[in-house]
Amino acid sequence: MGKVAVITSGKGGTGKSTLAAGLGAALVRRGNRVLIIDCDAGMRGVDLMLGVSGKLVFDIADVVRGNCSPENAIYPCGTVPELYILPAPQSVRDEISPYIMRQLVYVLEKYYDYILIDCPAGIGTGFESAAAAAGCAVIVANAEPLSLRGCDKVRQRLMSMNVSEIRLVINRFNEKKFRKTGVFPDLDSVIDKAGVRLLGIVPEDNIAAAETQKGRPPEGKMRAVYAFDRIAARIDGVEVPLEI
Ligand SMILES: Nc1ncnc2c1ncn2[C@@H]1O[C@H](COP(=O)(O)OP(=O)(O)OP(=O)(O)O)[C@@H](O)[C@H]1O
Ligand SMILES: [Mg+2]
Repeated sequence: MGKVAVITSGKGGTGKSTLAAGLGAALVRRGNRVLIIDCDAGMRGVDLMLGVSGKLVFDIADVVRGNCSPENAIYPCGTVPELYILPAPQSVRDEISPYIMRQLVYVLEKYYDYILIDCPAGIGTGFESAAAAAGCAVIVANAEPLSLRGCDKVRQRLMSMNVSEIRLVINRFNEKKFRKTGVFPDLDSVIDKAGVRLLGIVPEDNIAAAETQKGRPPEGKMRAVYAFDRIAARIDGVEVPLEI
């Protein structure tokens, strides 16, 4: 996959920001330098997940206004060296235009191996800006009909914006619950419903999610971490078999 990826979804709350933090840390474990750009203006959250929210002085809107240079608004994650964040503006009024995002990413991509752009759910203006600067996309969905319904819309919009590599991550997968509810006969039918090629499956992992909420991207022996590492390897071009 390319080096600038937008992390998106049709429906909200599927785990985009959690994936951005976890995958960012996993890419760092593979020796990469990673920047997460938070494009969720007014609802930013990755700063919390990377444990830097108390330190923020500048955000992306300050860079655009010329109040500071990009490096002043980029913060290192407290616990993962070589993982950085450029926070979103606090107000949705300061949302960055697609044109400016493209320019900003063009400048920043020289300094990082990967840039992950976290964006608001759906295909509104925040999504447009985030996707404008991306060469590839990860659509995050849960294995539920409502969550999957928006995937195709997002995929079509991404394609019309010339984002050619689009992959699916099924997040919060709980096999027991999946079998018990019986909404889908198997995971293949979930992927078919999404209409997007699979990049990986992240299990429901409340311990890893809690770590992220506490401002520490999860590391160590956790089910979600194992999944993030496998996805990171695939993004890095290593052939890792899919576990369906
Ligand atoms: N694999 C997982 N296992 C358990 N809980 C998870 C997992 N991934 C995410 N969560 C939880 O799901 C909730 C939503 O996650 P997150 O904020 O990352 O979603 P989002 O897609 O970024 O939401 P939004 O659309 O509002 O930006 C959070 O409470 C998070 O801790
Ligand atoms: Mg989010």
